Amino acid sequence: MKVTIIGQGFVGLSLSVVLASKKIQVNAIDINKEKILNLKKAKPPFYEPNLDISLKKCIKLKTIEFYYSHDQVKALGEIIFIAVPTPNINGKINLDFVSSVLNNILPSLKNMNTKPVVVIKSTIAPGTTDRTLLPIFKKFFKKLGSDFYLAINPEFLREGNAINDQLKPHVIVLGTMDKSTKLKLNNFFRKLYGNKIPIINTNFATAELIKYSNNAFLATKISFINSISNLCQNIPGANIDEVAKVIGMDSRIGPLFLNAGPGFGGSCLPKDLESFISVFKTYKIQSELLESVKKINDKQIDIIIKITKENLKKLTGKTISILGLAFKENSDDIRESKSIELIKKLLFYDCKIQVYDPLAIENTKNVFSDKIFYADSILECINNSDCVIIMNSNNEFKNMKKQELKKLVKIFVIDTRRILKNSLSKKNYIQIGVKN
Ligand code: UGA
Repeated sequence: MKVTIIGQGFVGLSLSVVLASKKIQVNAIDINKEKILNLKKAKPPFYEPNLDISLKKCIKLKTIEFYYSHDQVKALGEIIFIAVPTPNINGKINLDFVSSVLNNILPSLKNMNTKPVVVIKSTIAPGTTDRTLLPIFKKFFKKLGSDFYLAINPEFLREGNAINDQLKPHVIVLGTMDKSTKLKLNNFFRKLYGNKIPIINTNFATAELIKYSNNAFLATKISFINSISNLCQNIPGANIDEVAKVIGMDSRIGPLFLNAGPGFGGSCLPKDLESFISVFKTYKIQSELLESVKKINDKQIDIIIKITKENLKKLTGKTISILGLAFKENSDDIRESKSIELIKKLLFYDCKIQVYDPLAIENTKNVFSDKIFYADSILECINNSDCVIIMNSNNEFKNMKKQELKKLVKIFVIDTRRILKNSLSKKNYIQIGVKN
């Protein structure tokens, strides 16, 4: 079995590596030449647990080949997965990468006797396949299901858990509109995952809608708990973690994604929420709920700044240390990270900023260059600080050493994830969502 995977980001690369580790022959393509050269040397372009080890194994197994253009590939195989970005531009997703890949690759399928199934893994807005993708296919082919094969197969993996999620997805969603594509892909995924993982067969529009609704619901859970957390912050004795724990015990609600914090970031939830809102607008339907989810998320950093200001009396000239730069733990990804938003706002107040993150320092340097101080350790970061703000729950922060805690006791600390609640209990330790 041979497949081609176009786009080697989190989704494409983890899929390439997982399929190759299962002895499927993979052509892994990305237009970024430097990325491909590094991947050939088993160097991933981003941090993801176990990715480098798995990549090395596949290269050794010779089940993965890297290319920067499909022209270099001799045989494309039975399935072409497209996992290129669909960035948000002015609130709407931009389909330029997907369209350009299709326009480039479809002519080369024309003369093939057995045509591969084209599977879209990139996140696309409801209605996109009918409105934009099918017309591209129709430029080259006549009939879906005999001249060409197309499916929408959204991805639910989480950064920081990409390999595990690819190995054991909780569901496979297949949007198809012809029997032949449906059969081919059901056979492929059944063979890959066995009978334990449910495969949901649906149409194009519903598959697209499932992905957006899934991410919008996750965002809603986070904004819900953050709004209750903001209330807790003002009611003496109230504790958001206890509230979340108990409501999460109700099986109709569930415990996950109820962890209050500085708001959701990353390359997916904020982008998908914004473009989902614009889909509602396209159909002239009010999206009050999702607009509120976004509003709550947009205000979280201002609330943290307000608390900092109230406690330091003024912000100008203060030295503020930020622990955690990536949008979440176990990641070097700073895209839409709330920490980056916080630093930008604090710089506006002329604060001196010192930062530390075990994985994301290099990416942060590209944003702030010499405007802030990059520490090599927690101790160096909190040195001479007026205030320490903990932004993500990296293990290194959760398991602070005695020496680090000893120093923290003397500084005003704002813990947005409440990870030091068992180690620090003092007047100048503030947990977001807890009012002492
Ligand atoms: C998200 C979804 O969880 C995946 O299912 C989806 O496949 C992916 O987007 C995507 O569309 O590609 P990801 O962006 O990797 O995954 O990150 P999450 O784990 O969802 O976290 C997003 C943000 O929410 C982070 O900033 C995180 O710190 C925050 N969060 C998450 C909370 O503040 N509280 C929580 O309880 C959970």
